[in-house]
Amino acid sequence: MTTIVPVPVPDRLDGDEPTPFSVMITLLGDALEHDIGLDHLRSYPREALPGWKDQSDRRRLGFLAHDDTGRAVGALIIEAPCEEDAREVEFELGVAADARDGSVEMALFARLESEARAMGRTALQTYTIHRIDDRAGRLDAPSGVGSVPLDETARTYLDHGFSLAQVDRNSLFDLTGPLDRVREMLAEALTVAGPEYRLVTFTPPTPAELRESFAFVLSRMSTDVPKGELTVTEEVWDAARVERRDERLAQAGTLLSVAAVQHAPTGRIVAYNELSIGRDRARTTHQWGTLVAREHRGHRLGTVVKCANILRWRDLVPESPCISTFNAEENRPMLDVNEALGFTPSTVCGAWEKRLD
Ligand SMILES: CC(C)(COP(=O)(O)OP(=O)(O)OC[C@H]1O[C@@H](n2cnc3c(N)ncnc32)[C@H](O)[C@@H]1OP(=O)(O)O)[C@@H](O)C(=O)NCCC(=O)NCCS
Repeated sequence: MTTIVPVPVPDRLDGDEPTPFSVMITLLGDALEHDIGLDHLRSYPREALPGWKDQSDRRRLGFLAHDDTGRAVGALIIEAPCEEDAREVEFELGVAADARDGSVEMALFARLESEARAMGRTALQTYTIHRIDDRAGRLDAPSGVGSVPLDETARTYLDHGFSLAQVDRNSLFDLTGPLDRVREMLAEALTVAGPEYRLVTFTPPTPAELRESFAFVLSRMSTDVPKGELTVTEEVWDAARVERRDERLAQAGTLLSVAAVQHAPTGRIVAYNELSIGRDRARTTHQWGTLVAREHRGHRLGTVVKCANILRWRDLVPESPCISTFNAEENRPMLDVNEALGFTPSTVCGAWEKRLD
């Protein structure tokens, strides 16, 4: 018999004493690591906590599944955009490798659906990670580009009524080698971009004069990135939301580097790239957003911000061995830049959605 219990958000996480919150985050990381044999995509309780304490921009709910003995054997995190017209919830669901008999999954999926309905949301979404070398049969993305292996994870989602909405490629960039190619690509791209565009770099807190135009490009990630068959609400960002995010990052101990391009005639940020890392600077670096505002595309600004940030990162965080990034398989403009830089595929990511009636 599985019992699902809500996870309270702790005020702080000191010491090593496990709390339901840390057990939930750790269990999800362990389940993922078991499935893919890699640890670069797990999250860490102290770094996750600020996003749970300040839910002004994203609502979060957490649950643990206990077995008869009271052992935590499964976990579920539900995240929902706060925008009024939002219809979706994103979730992460994981079950301990030795407890996967189907019943824990069933109980967690049932709780997910009831919580989503209570929030008035009609689309359930999740991202699954798969081994790249899996020899199982394949399930094609609806776009026709990319596929996920029909492994145990994929079958679980199909069995629970989900459809594959998109396939992303997770790639890694080696930060330990020479960066000559990055320097060359940056020089070439800056020449194409010309004098109307000015490179600016910063580590949050975001300079006050840039917050509003930075908020605009951050908001475009929800509208401009290819989204396959996923339901995606347009995010609303303003200077205050940028400040709140900066504050959460500071609390988490996350280091972020932003390379952006300012359009000299208007002073507005029109392109940006973000690299982030948690408290342990020897871990994997994560690529967050990369975007060029629509009317400024075609000037190699994506290459400018990407290369400039990698070079800045080498000085800021010399210990981190690699950068991990996710790109939709149909996102050719972004993949072109990443492939030219030398990013190589590491795992496969499936985006799944189930619509509730
Ligand atoms: C990926 C991205 C940053 C590249 O922009 P960019 O630096 O302006 O691209 P480039 O200057 O290298 O463009 C090369 C060519 O591709 C075209 N192009 C660039 N992005 C394009 C897009 N999203 N769709 C179609 N064509 C695009 C350019 O117009 C240019 O064409 P041209 O050679 O005929 O002038 C940009 O497409 C973007 O912001 N996309 C939306 C956000 C996104 O997907 N981010 C990545 C998330 S993982």
